[in-house]
Amino acid sequence: MIKPHGGKLVNRHNKKKNIDIEGYPRFEISTNTSEDILNIANGIFSPLEGFLCKNDLDSILNEKRLENDTPWTIPILLDFDKKEIKEIKEGDRVLLTNKDTGVTSLLNVEEIQSYEKKSVAQSVYKTNDVNHPGVANIYNMKEKLLGGKITLYENKEREYDKYNLTPKETRILFGEKGWREIVAFQTRNPPHIGHEYVQKTALTFVDGLFINPIIGKKKTGDFTDDVILASYETLMKHYYLKERAVMSILRTSMKYAGPREAIHHAIMRKNFGCTHFIVGRDHAGVGNYYGPYDAHEIFSEFPDIGIIPLFFRSFSRCTKCDSVVNDKICPHDQKYHINFSGKKIREILRNGQIPSEDMMRKEVAETILKFDKTFVE
Ligand code: ADX
Repeated sequence: MIKPHGGKLVNRHNKKKNIDIEGYPRFEISTNTSEDILNIANGIFSPLEGFLCKNDLDSILNEKRLENDTPWTIPILLDFDKKEIKEIKEGDRVLLTNKDTGVTSLLNVEEIQSYEKKSVAQSVYKTNDVNHPGVANIYNMKEKLLGGKITLYENKEREYDKYNLTPKETRILFGEKGWREIVAFQTRNPPHIGHEYVQKTALTFVDGLFINPIIGKKKTGDFTDDVILASYETLMKHYYLKERAVMSILRTSMKYAGPREAIHHAIMRKNFGCTHFIVGRDHAGVGNYYGPYDAHEIFSEFPDIGIIPLFFRSFSRCTKCDSVVNDKICPHDQKYHINFSGKKIREILRNGQIPSEDMMRKEVAETILKFDKTFVE
C-alpha cells in the first residue's frame, strides 16, 4: 500500500483516558474549521498535526512546501478575533467546539500571529480580486491566527456518514478488494458524460476507481451535497461495475484555487491510499482565473509528490466521430465539438428540463430533477 504523505498516517484522536478538559477556555468555531480538525485527526491532511504556524505558512506561500520541504500548497489556518483571544497566550490550551459536527478538540497554542491577507490571497489564488470566492473567504477571515497541534476528543454522527470513510478505512477496503493501483477522482459536481469518460479511461489502466466528491462549503450556484451524492449513486448503479468503483465523501470546503488546489487534492487522495489522481480540464477552477491546463503544469514542480497524476485534455462530443473525443485523438474542426459545459447543464436543469443524453445520462438528470433544492443559495 502506498505510504501516506510525509510517511506516516496522522492520528490525533485522544488516546489518554480520564483526562479532564472541562477547565480550559472554550471557543465555538465554524463548521468548516471543525471539519479541518476532523481531517487533521483522521490523517486526511497528513502530515499536518494541527493548524499552521508562521514558519510553515510562509514556506507554503513562497515555496508551496512545508518548512521541512514536504509538498503542501493550501494553508490550513485557524483564524481568531483579536478581542476573543485577549486572554490567551502562547503555551495555553483552549477547547475548540462546534455544534454541527459535535467536535470538541484541544488546541495547544504554540503561536499567535498576524498575517497579511493580501499576500496570502495573491500566493494561493494568484489574484486579489474579491470576486474570486476563495479570495473573498480570505478577506472575511478574522485578524489573528493561532497555530499548534490539535487533539480530537469528540465528534458526532452526521448525515452521509455511511459514505464518510477515513484513510484508515479506505486503506483496509482497498486491501480487501485486492486493489493495488487505485485512481482517485475529485469532484464537486454531479457527473456529466465528460466526467464519466475521464474516470473510465483512467480505470482501464488500474484496479479500482475511488470517486471522492467534496461535501461541504461551496459557492452560490454550485450543486447541493444531496444532489451530488444521489446522482453518483444513480450513475454507479446503472453504469459501473460494483467491484471496480467505490464512492466516499470528503468533508472539506472547495477553495477554487485551481493549480494549487489540484496538488492539495492529490495529497489528500494519496493519504486515502490512492496511487493515481485524475487532473482534467480546469481542475478546481473558477471563472477565468486559471488556464485550462495550469493544474497539469504545476505537477512538474513536485516530482516528489508520491502519487501519479493522470492528465486529461478536455473531453467533448464530436458529431463527426460520433463519439467522445479530446484534442489528442480527434482530427475534426472545433465546430463539430459539443463541450460538456457545466454552465449549460445547470441552466437546462434549472429550467426543469433533461439535458441531451450526449451530455448527461438520462437517469442522472432524472435523479437531479427530483430534488426541490438543486443549487447552493
Ligand atoms: S472540480 O472543481 O472538482 O475540479 P468538477 O467536479 O467539474 O470540478 O471536475 C472534476 C474533475 O473532472 C477535475 O479533474 C476536472 O478537471 C475534470 N473534468 C471536468 N470536466 C472535464 C472534461 N470535459 N474533460 C476532461 N476533464 C474534465
